[in-house]
Amino acid sequence: MIYKANIRPAWVVLVLLMLFTLAFTLVKTSDTAPAKKIQPEEEKPSKVDLSKFKNAAENENCLKCHGQSKYTYVNPESKKTVTKKMFAELVMNRDVFYVSNHREFKCTDCHSEDYVTFPHAGDLRMEAKANCIDCHGGDEKYAKFKFEQIETEFQASVHSEKHSEDFTCWMCHNAHTYKINARTNENLATTITYDNMICLNCHGDLKNYQLLTTKAKPNLLQKHEWLPNQAAHFTNVRCIECHAKNEDTLVVAHHVVMKSQAVRKCESCHSKNSILYASLYKYQVSENIQKEGVFRALLLGDATSIGPDKSNTLNIISLVIFAMTILVIIIHAALRIKK
Ligand code: HEC
Ligand code: HEC
Ligand code: HEC
Ligand code: HEC
Ligand code: HEC
Ligand code: HEC
Ligand code: HEC
Repeated sequence: MIYKANIRPAWVVLVLLMLFTLAFTLVKTSDTAPAKKIQPEEEKPSKVDLSKFKNAAENENCLKCHGQSKYTYVNPESKKTVTKKMFAELVMNRDVFYVSNHREFKCTDCHSEDYVTFPHAGDLRMEAKANCIDCHGGDEKYAKFKFEQIETEFQASVHSEKHSEDFTCWMCHNAHTYKINARTNENLATTITYDNMICLNCHGDLKNYQLLTTKAKPNLLQKHEWLPNQAAHFTNVRCIECHAKNEDTLVVAHHVVMKSQAVRKCESCHSKNSILYASLYKYQVSENIQKEGVFRALLLGDATSIGPDKSNTLNIISLVIFAMTILVIIIHAALRIKK
C-alpha cells in the first residue's frame, strides 16, 4: 500500500514529461520539414516585362519562332503562311532566359547575325561558339569567380578526361538558363536542387547522356543503394559534395573525380568536422557571421546535427527536454532503489 502511494506521483510526472517531449518532437519535425522539400523555381515570373531589357525587342525576332512550340513563316513561292512545329530542343523559355546571367545579351552576341534570315543557312550550324574563358578570362570584373582556376579543375575532371573537346562548360552551364545560385541564393534547398539538376540533366536523361557515349547509362538509384534514405540525401546534399574534389579557394568545386574516389564514409558528413562546412555550407556560414554575429555561427559550427536550417532554439529546447527526461528517470530509479 505505502509502496504504491509513494511511487504513483513519480510515474505521473514521468508520463506527463514523455508526452511533453513527444509534443515538442512533433512541433520540431513539422517546423523543419518544409525546409527539406524541393522548392519550385520561385524566380520564374509568369510574364517578363520585356521593356526592362534593352535587347528584348530585337530578341523577339528570334523568339517569335524559338520562344514557343510552333512557328510560322511565309513561303515565298506559294505566298502562303505556313505553321510548323518547333523542334522541342530548339525551344527557349523567355522567363528563364531573362533571369539568367546573360539576360542582357542579344541572341546575336553569341550567335551569327546571319541567323536573322530564315531558312537559316546550313553552314551556320558549323559555327564555333565562344567559350566562357574567351569572354571572362583575365577580366578583373570577374576575378572573384576564378574562371582560370575553374578551367584547370575542369580539365582534370573525369568528364574532360574522357570526352575532352566534346565536353564543354556549356554542357553544365546551359547557355540560355544558367544563373548563379550557390554564391547568392539564400535558400539552400533551391541551390541544391539547381546544382543537382545540372548533373541529372545527363545522369537522369538517357538521350542527353548518350549524346556523349554509347555506353549504357548507369542506374543512379541502384548505384547509390548503399546510401540509406536516398531521397533525403539527394535533397539535402549536392552530387558534387561526394563527387568533386573541394578547393578552399572556389565557391563551387569543379574537379569531378572518378567514381572510385567518391565520398562514401558517413562520418565525412555526419560528424562535427563535416566536409559540408567547407563546401555546401561554406558560404552560408560566413554569411551568417556577417549577418547575425559570431554567436550564431559558432552555434552552427558546434551543432551535432548537420543542416544549417536547423533552428537553434528548438535544438536547445530538445536538449532541455532530454536532460529533464534523464533527470526523471534518475529520480525514479533512486526511489526504486530506496524501496
Ligand atoms: C521563322 C522562324 C525562325 C526565326 C525567325 C529564327 N529561327 Fe532559328 N531556327 C528555326 C528553325 C525551324 C530551326 C531548325 C532548322 C534549322 O536548323 O534551320 C532553327 C534553328 C536554329 C539554331 C540551331 C542550328 C543548329 O545548330 O542546328 C539556332 C542556333 C538558331 N536557329 C538561332 C536563331 C537566332 C539567333 C535567331 C534570331 C536572330 C533565329 N534563330 C530566328 C526557326 C527560326
Ligand atoms: C551567352 C551566349 C548565348 C546567348 C546570349 C544566346 N545563346 Fe543560344 N546558344 C549558345 C550556345 C553556346 C549554344 C550551344 C549550346 C551547346 O552546344 O550545348 C546555343 C544554342 C542555341 C540553340 C540550339 C539549341 C540548343 O539549345 O542547343 C538555339 C535555337 C539558340 N541557341 C537560340 C538562341 C536565341 C533565340 C537566343 C536569344 C534569345 C540565344 N540563343 C542567346 C549561346 C548563347
Ligand atoms: C560572349 C561573351 C561571354 C561568354 C561566351 C560567356 N559570358 Fe558570362 N558574361 C558575359 C558578360 C558580358 C557578362 C555581364 C552581363 C551583365 O552584366 O549583364 C556575363 C555575366 C556572367 C556571370 C554573372 C556575373 C555577375 O556578377 O552576376 C556569370 C556567373 C557568367 N557570366 C558565367 C559564364 C559562364 C560559366 C560561361 C560559360 C559557360 C559564360 N559566362 C560565357 C560574357 C560572356
Ligand atoms: C559537370 C558540370 C559542370 C561543368 C562541366 C562546369 N561547371 Fe561551372 N558550375 C557547375 C555547378 C553545379 C555550379 C554551381 C552553380 C550555382 O549554384 O551557382 C557551377 C558554378 C560555376 C561558376 C560560379 C561559381 C561562383 O563562384 O559563384 C562559374 C564561374 C563556373 N561554374 C564556370 C565554369 C567554367 C568556366 C567551366 C568550364 C571550364 C565550367 N564551369 C564547367 C557545374 C559545372
Ligand atoms: C552533358 C552530360 C553530363 C553532365 C551534365 C554530367 N555528366 Fe557525369 N558523366 C557523363 C558521361 C557521358 C559519363 C560517362 C563517361 C564515360 O565513361 O565515358 C559521366 C561520368 C560521370 C561519373 C563516373 C566517372 C567514372 O568513374 O566512370 C561521375 C561520378 C559523374 N559523371 C558525375 C557527374 C556530376 C557530379 C555531375 C554534375 C556536377 C555530372 N556528372 C554532370 C555525362 C554528364
Ligand atoms: C553521399 C555521397 C554521394 C552523393 C550525394 C551522390 N553520390 Fe554518386 N556515387 C557515390 C559513390 C560512393 C559512388 C561509387 C559507387 C560504386 O563504386 O559502386 C557513386 C557512383 C556514382 C556514379 C557512377 C556510376 C557507375 O557505376 O558508373 C555516378 C554517375 C554518380 N554517382 C552520379 C551521382 C549524381 C548525379 C548524384 C547527384 C544526384 C550523386 N551521384 C550523388 C557517392 C555519392
Ligand atoms: C555528403 C554528405 C553525407 C554523407 C556522405 C552521408 N550523409 Fe546522411 N545526410 C546528410 C545530410 C545533409 C542529411 C540531412 C540532414 C538534415 O536533415 O539536417 C543526411 C541525412 C541522413 C539521415 C536521415 C534521413 C532522414 O530521414 O532525415 C540518415 C539516416 C543518414 N543521413 C545516414 C547516412 C549514412 C548511414 C551514411 C553513410 C552510408 C550517410 N548518411 C552519408 C549528408 C550525408
